[in-house]
Amino acid sequence: MTEQPKKYKRTLVTTALPYANGPVHIGHLAGVYVPADIYVRYLRATGQEVIMIGGSDEHGVPITIRARKEGITPQDVVDRYHSIIKKSFQDFGITMDVYSRTTSETHKKVASDFFRTLYDKGEFVKKTSQQYYDPEANQFLADRYIIGTCPHCGNDHAYGDQCEKCGTSLSALELKNPKSAISGSKPELRETTHWYLPLDKHEPWLRQWILEDHKEWRSNVYGQCKSWLDMGLQPRAVSRDLDWGIPVPVEGAEGKVLYVWFDAPIGYISNTKELLPDSWEKWWKDPETRLVHFIGKDNIVFHCIVFPAMLKAHGGFILPDNVPANEFMNLEGDKISTSRDWAIWLHEYLQEFPGKQDVLRYVLTANAPETKDNDFTWRDFQARNNNELVAILGNFVNRVVVLTHKYFGGKVPAPAELQPIDTESIEAFKAERHQVESLIEAFRFRDAQKEAMNMARIGNKYLADTEPWKLAKTDMTRVATILNIGLQITANLATVMEPFLPFSAQKILDQLNLNKQGWDTIGSMDILATGHQIGQPVLLFEKIDDSVVEEQLARLDAKRKANEQAQWQPQPIAETIDFSAFEKLDIRVGLVTECTKVPKADKLLQFKIDDGLGGRTIVSGIAKFYNPEDLVGKRVLFIANLAPRKLKGIESQGMILSAEDADGNLSVVTTSTEVKPGCQVK
Ligand code: MF3
Ligand code: ZN
Repeated sequence: MTEQPKKYKRTLVTTALPYANGPVHIGHLAGVYVPADIYVRYLRATGQEVIMIGGSDEHGVPITIRARKEGITPQDVVDRYHSIIKKSFQDFGITMDVYSRTTSETHKKVASDFFRTLYDKGEFVKKTSQQYYDPEANQFLADRYIIGTCPHCGNDHAYGDQCEKCGTSLSALELKNPKSAISGSKPELRETTHWYLPLDKHEPWLRQWILEDHKEWRSNVYGQCKSWLDMGLQPRAVSRDLDWGIPVPVEGAEGKVLYVWFDAPIGYISNTKELLPDSWEKWWKDPETRLVHFIGKDNIVFHCIVFPAMLKAHGGFILPDNVPANEFMNLEGDKISTSRDWAIWLHEYLQEFPGKQDVLRYVLTANAPETKDNDFTWRDFQARNNNELVAILGNFVNRVVVLTHKYFGGKVPAPAELQPIDTESIEAFKAERHQVESLIEAFRFRDAQKEAMNMARIGNKYLADTEPWKLAKTDMTRVATILNIGLQITANLATVMEPFLPFSAQKILDQLNLNKQGWDTIGSMDILATGHQIGQPVLLFEKIDDSVVEEQLARLDAKRKANEQAQWQPQPIAETIDFSAFEKLDIRVGLVTECTKVPKADKLLQFKIDDGLGGRTIVSGIAKFYNPEDLVGKRVLFIANLAPRKLKGIESQGMILSAEDADGNLSVVTTSTEVKPGCQVK
C-alpha cells in the first residue's frame, strides 16, 4: 500500500443538512454544528483557506406527512422551519459561509444535472417491482408509512421497515394486515419502476478506499462502514413515486422524484455554487482540496458509501478525506425524540437563557458524543457553568481586569524582571498550545477544549500563587509584573477560546480593548503594549442557581409523565374463565370504620371494615395514595373469601379492590350508592 502524504491547500467543511420538518435541538448542535464550527474557526484563525457549507434538507416523505397533518403545503412547512433553523444557527454563532436550501433553483438544476449525467453514462439500473400504494391518498407508500402486524412477534403496530417491539428489520411485504399510516386505508400492490445505483458494482473500490486507505477514520465510522461492506452492498433506488421533490429528469418518469438521500448530499455542491458561482469547482474538483463531512452516526452510510459512489460514478469530483461522525447526545438518560418532544430546542433555550450560547456550546463540547452516546443533564450543565466557566475562566479574566483598573487606572503596567514562578507559569501556559492544536486537528474537540480550559486554570493558579492583591501595599513593581503577565495571558485566552466560546472571546477582547488576534500569537507575552488602556470589566459568566435547574427538571418530568400517559395501553385480556370460576370469588361491599398507617411499612394501611358480620381487619398496600383518615366512611369492595395472610405481623382477612393507572397509582373502588355493608358484588 502506497499512502502518499497528502498536502492540501484548502479545506471544504460540510455540515449535514438538517430536515426542515422541525426546529433544531441540542443533539444537532452537539453532533454536528458545534464541532464543525470549532474546526472551521480554528482553521480560519490559523490563516487557512476554508469554507463551511450548510443548508436545509427540504425534500422527503416526512415533510409531506407533516404538511398533510397541518393542512398546509410542503413548501409552507419548509419555509417555516428553514427560517427557524437558520436563525438558531446564527444565534449560536455557527459560522457557515452559506446556509441555503434544497428547494433553491440552483440546487434543483445541479441535482437534476447530476442525475442526468449518471443516467447518460449508464450508471443506473432500471428495475420494476411491486410496491404498496394508498388508493385514498393516491400515492405509493414508503416502508415507514405502512403499519401492520409483525410476522415474528405479533406486534400489531410494526412499521414496514422495522418492528420496534422485537427489533426485526422487515420489508413492507412481510407485514400482516398492512394499513397506510397516511390515510389508514388498506394499501394495494402496484407495479412501479425506479432507477437504482448499483452499489454492488462499486464495492471493490469502496473496500480499498475505506478499509485500506482510511484506517485513520474514527473507529465508529470505520466499523460501521466495514460491517456494511462485509454484508455486501445492494443496488439502491434513487427515485421515488412522490409529488414532492426534484422531478426525475428523464422522459416517461412523470410523478417520480429524486430520492431525498440522492438530492440532499448534492446540496453541498449546489450551496457551494450558490456561495461561489465562479470558483466553486476548485472546492469540489481540485485534489488539493480536503473535503470533510461533519455528520451524526445515522448518516454514516450515506456519506461514506452512497455519496462517494455517486461522486465516483459522476467523475471529476474529489472524495471526502475524513468523516468525523458523532454518536448521539441523549437528554437526561433518554434518547432525544422530536415526536415525543423530548429535546431542548435551541430557540427555546435562548428564550430562557438569553446570552448564554457559550454555556451550552461549552457543555455540549465537554460531553461531546465523539466515541459513544453521551448524556446531557441539567445538573451537569449547572456544575460545568458554576465550577468551570464561572470559577476558572470568568474568575481569572475578571480579577485581572479589575485589579488593573484598581492599581493602574486601567493601563497595562510595565513588567520588571521575571521570577521563577513567572517563567514557570508562562512555560506551562505555552506548552498547552500544541496540545490544543493537535487535538483539534484530530477532531478530538472534547479533549481540545479541556486543554484550552487548562490554560485558564494555569492563569488562575498563577494569580492564586502570587497574590498580587496582597503585594499591593509593599511591592508595586511586582504587582505590575504579575498583572502584565495576567493581561497577556488573558489576551491569549481570547484567541484560544474563540473556536469554542466565540461570544466570550469577544467579550474578553472588548475588556482588553483589543482586536482579534491570529492563532500564531498564542504564547506571546507582548500582545498588549505597556500603557495600553483597557476597557471596563464585564462578567463573562454568572452562576446558575439550583432553582433554575430544578425548574427545567420539573418541566422534563412533566413531559415524561405526559408521554407515559400517552403511550399507556391496557393490559391484554387474561385467559378466558367460565362462570363457575367467577362464582368462586366472594366479592362484598365493606364500610371503612377505621384506617391507620402500619408502623414501619411505608406502603401499608390497616383497615377495620364493617362487613355486616361483626367486622374484619384488612391490610392493603395503598398508603402512598391516600391519607388514612380520608378513607374512613367510604364503601369499598373486598374479596371476602381469600385465605387470610400475615402482613407485617397483622392478619389480613381479605383484599380491597383498587384500580391501577398508567403511573401505577392505585385508586380504591367504591359503590355509586350507599348500599348496606356486606352486600355481595355480582
Ligand atoms: N437530513 C438528513 C438528516 O437530518 C441529513 C442529510 S445530510 C445530506 O439526517 F448529506 F444529505 F445533506
Ligand atoms: Zn416484532
